[in-house]
Amino acid sequence: MSAPRIIVTRKLPDAVEARLKRHFTVALNPHDKLFTREKMIAAMQNADGMLVAVGDPLDAEIMQAAGKRRVQILANFGVGTNHIDLEAAEEHGIHITNTPDVLTDATADIALTLMLNVTRRTWMHETRLRRGEWGGFSLIDGLGTSLQGKTLGIIGMGRIGTAVALRAYYGFGMKVVYFNRSKIEVQRIPGAQRMDTIEDLIETSDIISLHCPGGEANRGLLSANRIALMKPTAYLINTARGDIVDEPALVSALLAGKIAGAGLDVFAKEPRVPNALRELENVCLLPHIGSATVETRTAMGMAATANLVAHFAGKPLPNKV
Ligand code: 8YV
Repeated sequence: MSAPRIIVTRKLPDAVEARLKRHFTVALNPHDKLFTREKMIAAMQNADGMLVAVGDPLDAEIMQAAGKRRVQILANFGVGTNHIDLEAAEEHGIHITNTPDVLTDATADIALTLMLNVTRRTWMHETRLRRGEWGGFSLIDGLGTSLQGKTLGIIGMGRIGTAVALRAYYGFGMKVVYFNRSKIEVQRIPGAQRMDTIEDLIETSDIISLHCPGGEANRGLLSANRIALMKPTAYLINTARGDIVDEPALVSALLAGKIAGAGLDVFAKEPRVPNALRELENVCLLPHIGSATVETRTAMGMAATANLVAHFAGKPLPNKV
C-alpha cells in the first residue's frame, strides 16, 4: 500500500519536513508561496491529508468547491483555528487538529516582551538612539511606567493567559485579575481575582492582555465602547488575534491619547498594519511572532505531524479540535 499523500501549504522547519517524509508521500512548499484559493481547492481534491497554517483560506466555500475531496484531515500548524470553518469541516467529515501546549511559553514570553516594551518605551528610545538623537544620560527624559504593583487583566485564562499571569505575578510583582467565559478558579496565582464582566476587568486593569480565541465568537470583543472604559493610563497587549479588537477604534483611542499605549503582535487583516499605528511612539508592533522560536516552531511542526501519523494509523488524534 502506498503512503498517504500529504500536501503542506507552508515552508516548515527542516526537521519537521524530514519527519513528514519518513511517514508520507509529501508535497512540500520550498519557496513558501502562499496557496491561492484555486490551489487550495486542488490540494483538497488531491491529498489524503494537509498540513495547514494561519492565513490559509479554509472557509466553507473552499470546502464546498473542493466537491469530491480526497482530504480527510487538516492538521493545523498552530493553536488558533479561526482561519478554518470548523462547522463546514465537520459537515464535510474533515478532521481538524491543532498544536496546543508547545507554544504556550513562547507566546507568553512575547506578551511580556510587548508589556515591557510599551511601558518602558524601549522602541522610542532605541529608535532615537539609532538615529543619533541621544544627547546623553538624562534623569527625567522619556520615563516609563513600572509593572510592579500594577494590575494585569487577562481576558481568556487558558494555557497562554495563565502562563502570562504566572510571569507577571512571580516575575514582575503584578496583581492579576481575569475574565474567562467558563467559570474557572485559578489556584497557582495568589490573589488572582475572577471578574464577573469584561467591563469590570477593563475598568480595574492597568494592562489588559488578550488570550481568547479569534473568529466569530470573539470578533470585536474589545469594542469601541469597551476601549472607552480603559483607564487613560492603561495599555492593551494583543498576542491572540487581531479580530478580537475593533482595530479602527483602538487606533482612534491611541491617536486621541485616550489610552497610554498598545503592544500588538497580531492585526485584523494581516499583513496589513494601519498606517496610523506605525507613526505612534507609544505602540510596539510585531509581525505575529508569538511562537517564532526554532524550538517552538519545530515542536509545533512535530505535533502537527504526530496528528497526521495518528490519523493514518487509525489511532485517536492527539489534538482533535
Ligand atoms: C502560529 C499562532 O505561529 O498558534 C497560533 O495560533 O497564532 C501562531 O503562534 C501560527 O498559527 C502558525 O500557523
